[in-house]
Amino acid sequence: MFDKVRESDQKVFPAAWYAVAWSKDVDTSPIKRRLLGKDLVLYRNPAGSVSAIHAYCPHRGADLSLGSCRDGQLVCPYHAWRFDTDGRCIEIPAHPNRPIPAFAHTFTYPVTERAGLLWVYPQANDKGSTAAAPDLQMFPELEDQQYTAAPYAAIWRAHLTRVIESVIDVAHVPIVHRATIGKKSKEEIQITFEADGDHIQVKNGSGLLHYQFPQQWILTIPDQTRNKIYNYVTFTPIDENKTAIFGLAGRSFAKAVPGMNRIFSRYSAKVLEEDRALVESQHPRPIPEALRMEAHVPADGPQVRFRQRWYEFLTGDEQKIRLDGLRCDAEHQ
Ligand code: FES
Ligand SMILES: [Fe+2]
Repeated sequence: MFDKVRESDQKVFPAAWYAVAWSKDVDTSPIKRRLLGKDLVLYRNPAGSVSAIHAYCPHRGADLSLGSCRDGQLVCPYHAWRFDTDGRCIEIPAHPNRPIPAFAHTFTYPVTERAGLLWVYPQANDKGSTAAAPDLQMFPELEDQQYTAAPYAAIWRAHLTRVIESVIDVAHVPIVHRATIGKKSKEEIQITFEADGDHIQVKNGSGLLHYQFPQQWILTIPDQTRNKIYNYVTFTPIDENKTAIFGLAGRSFAKAVPGMNRIFSRYSAKVLEEDRALVESQHPRPIPEALRMEAHVPADGPQVRFRQRWYEFLTGDEQKIRLDGLRCDAEHQ
């Protein structure tokens, strides 16, 4: 007997802070991003804080990223309705003297800026406040001043679960990355890892891979004392078919050397690109619904642990985001 396949599971994602853009890319000109199947518009008000507002105007659905930011408020490009940072409509130029009806208001999402990234919590509200969202747990290296970090990014046509598994998979390194990071790795491996709650830590040579459920991963070299490096990635489900990856290649040396950031960014992007075609090729698109539906060997221990954690999420009462809703709303099952 096979477990019943639930089609909609591939459209269910954990409620968590997800990175949607680099901080440096967001100023007073609105830009559009997609998170969990919903479009949102980001803009920075003159005081410096960033808002994430539902992308389409409640009036006639015009794309607000074509609008403009005036005095810290977003003005729709079509009939110039104006929205404050809570998504409330505060001006309808066609009827300046009429009260603004409740249906003219839209909604925003909580936003925070950490490690040079803008993170959105997919819990639509009418206030944009971060009060309802949990703290974003960052790896300490990302905010440690001894490092500088070179950014890199990619978008893959793959389900979040397959992307996550690719970064805790050690056996593929000497094969897929034989021209880069896997040059010295042996194909035969003895896997050593620890898993506890939201954390999976895998030894890989001198490196330690640390995955934190659901969206972050870091590689560090624990024995390094000088010339330290790390490599960090965070994963963002754009929808069930696409995942954005934001990476930071950190180093504690040559911080001001011109061109060094570019070298680190390019190398990390190259390594990431080596995985892309393979991860995009995987079927079924998300990981299967039950452990026995793919073949596991001892080297797959960390991924098996990830699957158990994912199934726990799918079947438990943690907050979930379903892609088919009209807006991103966390719910309990
Ligand atoms: S569509 Fe936005 S104001 Fe009319
Ligand atoms: Fe890889």
